[in-house]
Amino acid sequence: MKYEAKTVTLKDGSAALFRSPTPEDTAAFLDFFNAVRAETDFLLSGPQDPLPTFEGERAWIESSLNSPDQMMIVCDMGGYIAGNCSIAFKPNTKDRHRAALAIGLRREYWDRGIGTAMFTELIAAARERGVTQLELDYIQGNDRGRALYEKMGFRAWGELPNGVRQPDGSARSLIFMRLALD
Ligand SMILES: CC(C)(COP(=O)(O)OP(=O)(O)OC[C@H]1O[C@@H](n2cnc3c(N)ncnc32)[C@H](O)[C@@H]1OP(=O)(O)O)[C@@H](O)C(=O)NCCC(=O)NCCS
Repeated sequence: MKYEAKTVTLKDGSAALFRSPTPEDTAAFLDFFNAVRAETDFLLSGPQDPLPTFEGERAWIESSLNSPDQMMIVCDMGGYIAGNCSIAFKPNTKDRHRAALAIGLRREYWDRGIGTAMFTELIAAARERGVTQLELDYIQGNDRGRALYEKMGFRAWGELPNGVRQPDGSARSLIFMRLALD
């Protein structure tokens, strides 16, 4: 699903272009993903895991653009991919009131309001489609993520103990959140 590109003003006054990624972004997107997962322990994929292949990544971007049930938005700072977020709409009659959100930004772009602006766009897209429940999960200890999600109205409803093992071997819970839109 294509996102209608939009320029957003960040907390520090700088301009960010929110747009759909295109197949031409494949190499830049892989570079972005490789960097982000090395900069935080709060994504499921880490530097020890294999990177998607160029072909696989390109196919994934294309399928997201063409799918009626998925939308990605990248934060483009003068041609540099600073962040990415996505919404995955459930496709079936019984669950099409639900959608799942995900987000990741390069560390140098944290705390500028990009997360807030991206979630505002994803929530608007969900409302436009008539979705009434948004869902996400985060790894215990991700206080910046939790702060963003709570600010946007999400509330925790459950916890999976031992959902994640960090690289140092420590067990962390996965915390599940939801936002009711109706
Ligand atoms: C989590 C993430 C998406 C947040 O995006 P962001 O652009 O930094 O978020 P914003 O600047 O819009 O908002 C962050 C809020 O958290 C607050 N915050 C920052 N650090 C915090 C901390 N350690 N504890 C609590 N709140 C914190 C900020 O003050 C801000 O709130 P405010 O707008 O009311 O001042 C981003 O930091 C990121 O990509 N992290 C790494 C990957 C990740 O964790 N992805 C999510 C996986 S579930």
